[in-house]
Amino acid sequence: MEQTFIMIKPDGVQRGLVGDLISRFEKRGFFLKGLKLITVERSFAEKHYEDLSAKPFFAGLVEYIISGPVVAMVWEGKNIVATGRKMIGATNPSNAEPGTIRADFAIEVGRNVIHGSDAVESARKEIALWFPEGLSNWRSNLHSWIY
Ligand code: PPS
Repeated sequence: MEQTFIMIKPDGVQRGLVGDLISRFEKRGFFLKGLKLITVERSFAEKHYEDLSAKPFFAGLVEYIISGPVVAMVWEGKNIVATGRKMIGATNPSNAEPGTIRADFAIEVGRNVIHGSDAVESARKEIALWFPEGLSNWRSNLHSWIY
């Protein structure tokens, strides 16, 4: 079953959105496989966003991610990478479709609440980076009839 890495960014944690955001993924029918509240070091944030290191916003993005705790999660389910990205909405919240997380909760691209892996391969890399200890192997007995 496909998995993705989802991170509630420091603004999402500080604004008290964690429960609401988790709830959206649960209600959609996805399964929580890993979860932790963690404040990351600068070098770790730079590693997570290493593909963006040449972008002008890189330094600000790293400052933002290390500015407070984030909620790192792994979610599992059918087509979770693409569906998770749709649920999150456009990178710039001003362009996000109504009903998406970023449209409902954000205005600024530099404070856009949540991250989701953009492809199955990046999900695999991000899960390995954030959860080197591995994941729970629990499996809901709803899997068989939801999917
Ligand atoms: S790009 O330029 O197309 O590679 O960027 P994009 O894929 O849209 O976004 C990659 C991540 O960079 C964040 N981002 C920004 N942060 C701060 N300021 C600005 N201007 C900005 N533009 C993009 C964006 O939120 C993405 O982070 P994640 O955590 O992956 O959502």
